[in-house]
Amino acid sequence: GSHDPTSLRTPIVAVLGHVDHGKTSLLDKIRGSAVIEGEAGAITQHIGATAVPLDVVSSIAGDLVNPDDFDLPGLLFIDTPGHHSFTTLRSRGGALADIAILVVDVNDGFQPQTLEALDILKRSQTPFIVAANKIDTVPGWNPNEDSPINATYEAQSDRVSSRLDESLYEIIGNLSDEDFSADLYWRVQNFQRNVGVVPVSAMTGEGVPDLLAVMMGLSQRYMKEEMEIDVQGPGVGTVLEVKEEKGFGTTIDIVLYDGTIKADDQIVVGGMNKPIVTDVRALLQPRPLAEIRTESRFEKVDEISAASGIKVAAPELADAMAGAPVRVVRNRELDEVVEEVEAELADIAVDTEEQGVVVKADTLGSLEAMADALGEAEVPIVRAEVGDVAPRDISVASTAEEPKQRAILGFNVETLADAEQRAETEDVTVFTDEVIYQLIEEYEEYVDELER
Ligand code: GTP
Ligand code: MG
Repeated sequence: GSHDPTSLRTPIVAVLGHVDHGKTSLLDKIRGSAVIEGEAGAITQHIGATAVPLDVVSSIAGDLVNPDDFDLPGLLFIDTPGHHSFTTLRSRGGALADIAILVVDVNDGFQPQTLEALDILKRSQTPFIVAANKIDTVPGWNPNEDSPINATYEAQSDRVSSRLDESLYEIIGNLSDEDFSADLYWRVQNFQRNVGVVPVSAMTGEGVPDLLAVMMGLSQRYMKEEMEIDVQGPGVGTVLEVKEEKGFGTTIDIVLYDGTIKADDQIVVGGMNKPIVTDVRALLQPRPLAEIRTESRFEKVDEISAASGIKVAAPELADAMAGAPVRVVRNRELDEVVEEVEAELADIAVDTEEQGVVVKADTLGSLEAMADALGEAEVPIVRAEVGDVAPRDISVASTAEEPKQRAILGFNVETLADAEQRAETEDVTVFTDEVIYQLIEEYEEYVDELER
């Protein structure tokens, strides 16, 4: 068939929130509902992402979505493990995600990673809605499998529904404390100005139709122009993770947000020291839904278009960094593409000083977020890198003149065993945490202690 050279790509939806608040369960529910609707085959399982086509969205959402109202192809959901920072999901010019779902457990309310996610959504100006999850755990709840929220609300006793309301208003209050004007989603007129809160249960599926309907509405209304891409053009993406894969060596999991990547393409990837130029050996996609739960087995594909998640096997990837750009060369000058990747890396680069602390982080995006936060706290940085805390970081930290700067702040990273030993003998203090502001607080407390 003939291809429309520009077409609307699938909007990328990041699912974020505190550990255990139900991000993965929510995506499982959407996938599971598709299985029940007999649409399992229509959903493609990607690397760290799930593509849900429009007709599946509309069959799950029922009356709430009329597919004729939409010309977007569907939604691509990206799950972010609670311990792993959403900051990986960056692309040129900000957030990789077009929109986001912030999942909050109605009983547990706002927690450190909820706040951290909000902070990143604010900085990147990503439009989002809040899924107030686990409504089925309100004592006395009368579950109605897969029901839209208004129908199940009506089926609850006054006591139960007012208990839910209390929790929901607490969440709305918390959002307002963070300067977001929020309300229950059916009261929101303008989703650009107000954050909609959607009560859901990932367990019973209640409210999931509403959630999908709101997401489609949001992306159609506000994102359409940004969704126009050249589907046949050379692919552009972001590295989600760098991983060893049996039989393939070091591979990268990427989210492609523009163009196409082919199994015989030359690519340029952001590396630790310089851009890596390499040839794709294989494009690997997880096998369909049924198998994905048990083990990750892959299917080789010849090409894939944005938006999508894909594992790329290629030589020379050992120095690739999570959060770094990936660009397909194809018919362009290699030098030009290398320059583009260098420019993108320079955009993310952290300004360092003569004296300061050493910062390590799991991804380029989180390194950038750490640097921002340390800048605000007026803590100078001498060295900032992606990767675990290694002996040479201890050496750098040990040269600091001020005792308070003999410190390493590691976000979402490990301290290598030999580095730990070295830190002790060199009198360097290593702080690690999975929440940025907690990490900085710990360091500040330590400095206060030293200066007392
Ligand atoms: P991380 O990936 O570790 O950050 O967690 P997550 O946010 O993906 O949470 P996950 O989906 O793994 O759910 C955590 C726990 O909460 C699991 O035991 C789920 O079964 C449970 N859970 C999730 N959603 C619901 C819900 O709507 N109702 C009830 N009752 N339990 C839920
Ligand atoms: Mg999860």
